[in-house]
Amino acid sequence: MKTLTDTYTLTNGTKMPKIGFGTWQVPDGDIAYQSVLMALKNGYRHIDTAAAYRNEESVGRAIKDSGIPREEIFVTTKLESHIKTYEGALEGFEKSLKALDLDYVDLYIIHAPWPWSEIGKDCREGNVLAYKALEKVYAEGRAKAIGVSNFNPQDIENIIEHCDIVPMVNQIGYFIGHNQKETDEYCKAKNILVEAYSPLAIGQLLKNPDIIDMAKKYDVTPAQISIRYCIEKGTAPLPKSTHENRIIENTKVDFVIDKKDMDFLDSINDDPRKWS
Ligand code: A2P
Repeated sequence: MKTLTDTYTLTNGTKMPKIGFGTWQVPDGDIAYQSVLMALKNGYRHIDTAAAYRNEESVGRAIKDSGIPREEIFVTTKLESHIKTYEGALEGFEKSLKALDLDYVDLYIIHAPWPWSEIGKDCREGNVLAYKALEKVYAEGRAKAIGVSNFNPQDIENIIEHCDIVPMVNQIGYFIGHNQKETDEYCKAKNILVEAYSPLAIGQLLKNPDIIDMAKKYDVTPAQISIRYCIEKGTAPLPKSTHENRIIENTKVDFVIDKKDMDFLDSINDDPRKWS
């Protein structure tokens, strides 16, 4: 089976295609619509959006217009990071479903443990309240799986302690040089699937001379090495592009990076975003 459509199985049995199409920073309207349509046409069956991306309407329209049966596409959206109440989270979910024009989402997650405008703020109580709303929509079958994003182990422990359902995923920034070892190991121990957003470090990894060399060795591109790295680590990469040639390139990752090279990539521990 191709990596693109091969699946991970979440703790509740839900199957998630290993590679998702990311839509962060993809502008609403024609660009988001065309990008998602191109992704679906080229075999992606997992689309990742968020209320905060302000493109859910275009993403939903592309999903409909693709003509692909709804049940064949895995759709994720996220609760905005500043919403930390039960009622607010239920309202946020309804809004997202309406914008997407869908009856259910495959995965609904809390976007971050704190508002993006107040990174690090203690929102323990609010996260529990919001997560309880996720448990409700999960019980109703309107979210087939639930989880969190940008949570560290302590943030997840808080949810496990005060809620009923262990988050099924944690979506985090994850790429060569920034593989969040502590959070990754914690999530693996709890059977929480790690989704890797920005697997190309927002494009910065493509300039790394070591990755360029390794790509030559495997006769692939730096983007393909970066995406394959995430797969080898058991995470679900969410690459994004608005160009069809790159959207296609990012699906061609059916090769194996050998152990020695993985060890080398693991040893890079320099967040490449600071090179920019
Ligand atoms: P573009 O949309 O112009 O193709 P990440 O997924 O880590 O956030 O990285 C996304 C960035 O990398 C986007 O700016 C995207 O630009 C670029 N990108 C995505 N895929 C490729 C690729 N295969 N080759 C070069 N750049 C890419």
